[in-house]
Amino acid sequence: MKTIIEPFRIKSVEPIRLTRRDERERYLAATGYNLFGLHADDVLIDLLTDSGTGAMSSMQWAAVMSGDESYAGSPSFYRFEAAVKHLMPFKHVIPTHQGRAAEAILFSVFGGEGRRIPSNTHFDTTRGNLEASGAFGDDLVIAEGRDPRAEHPFKGNMDLGLLEDYLGRHGDAVPLVMLTITNNAGGGQPVSLANIRAVAELAHRFGKPFFIDGCRFAENAWFIKTREPGQAQRSIEDIVRDCFGVADGMTMSAKKDAFGNIGGWIAVNDDVVAERSRQHLIRTEGFPTYGGLAGRDLEALAQGLREIVDEDYLRYRIRTNAYIVEQLDAMGIPVVKPAGGHAVFIDARAWLDHIAPLQYPGQALAVALYELAGIRSCEIGTVMFGSQPDGSERPAAMDLVRLAFPRRTYTQSHADYVIEAFGELAATKDRLGGYRIVSQPQRMRHFTCRFEKIGA
Ligand code: F0G
Repeated sequence: MKTIIEPFRIKSVEPIRLTRRDERERYLAATGYNLFGLHADDVLIDLLTDSGTGAMSSMQWAAVMSGDESYAGSPSFYRFEAAVKHLMPFKHVIPTHQGRAAEAILFSVFGGEGRRIPSNTHFDTTRGNLEASGAFGDDLVIAEGRDPRAEHPFKGNMDLGLLEDYLGRHGDAVPLVMLTITNNAGGGQPVSLANIRAVAELAHRFGKPFFIDGCRFAENAWFIKTREPGQAQRSIEDIVRDCFGVADGMTMSAKKDAFGNIGGWIAVNDDVVAERSRQHLIRTEGFPTYGGLAGRDLEALAQGLREIVDEDYLRYRIRTNAYIVEQLDAMGIPVVKPAGGHAVFIDARAWLDHIAPLQYPGQALAVALYELAGIRSCEIGTVMFGSQPDGSERPAAMDLVRLAFPRRTYTQSHADYVIEAFGELAATKDRLGGYRIVSQPQRMRHFTCRFEKIGA
């Protein structure tokens, strides 16, 4: 059979509410045109994020009931730890309440004034945490990764020439080398196993530890299996173990590829780094056998890690995005190609080329999509990345809008509804105007800043 189906049936449903356009315009104006400010029950299809928004399986809900809530030494922790180590063979696994808590711990050890930390592309919370420590982050993704239309199987790869030069130039200022798999900020694009190995080798040649931000490790492994020569016959589990086997540590948001609604971890091999991490954890998250999570959360993650490497799931997961990208592409809408793992990215700078980057074409598109169809998306562009540490502003590398798909949550007809909405928008998009920011915090402004329509 050629049809790729959702490889599950639905046991429990949650109604979603249809709203009128005039209602949606009112809701959004009241939030200062920031989609993070909406009440979620005023959203029809919520593609704001794939983080913590997925559906748990019946097996995960069953595991929740066996959660042991002991303060120290809970058996739920040991089941969680074993599930992580089965895929990621690190010596120390330290749970946190979500990914950014693991990042805060990582940079409490490795960050600090004057330090420089390279990655393919740091995600916004990673950058926020390392900058808060006084360090500076550098994005060294390959040139194809910055070009929405460049077709490349692994657009998340690190530019090895740039990294070697960087390590030579910055020497002692570099405390570690990072890679984000998949590269979220660059369009959910994968990193090849060859690139992961080469980055590890370079980092180690210069005496630096190598860390992976592994949020979407299973999606990344699926791309390795289906796109990298010699990998097709290997199991996802083997590929995942190879990816992490060359690393010295990782940070993780278990709200992505562990099917969790909450959770994360930092894992390392080095005993001293582990000890310092645990000290920080005890001060900020909790005791090392629960790290800000309930025992029942740890059980859900342990089961989720067993389910996420299922090939039928990954085939359906990756196909959903590819289907939408194919349809939008056929309609002449500029999309990031090939499709990424967790999301579809629209090149708003190219599609709304009458709106200057500093008037936020991505924000204009995200607002229009909600007003028209009740779909919530997320700007990944100049609003998110344009503000500089010195308070100035400059255009981000790209102005994208992300449609991130929660795991196992929406069906084919939801995808078709999204495609239809873009068809409608295509007719009126030249009349959309830009935005200006009227209030913003110092860091990570996209979550809470308020906008005004220019000319309104
Ligand atoms: N790293 C990457 C690559 C991420 O995508 C995220 C979260 C984090 C770290 C932080 O994890 O949310 O558990 O604290 N990304 C979400 C998103 C928020 O919508 O892409 P967290």
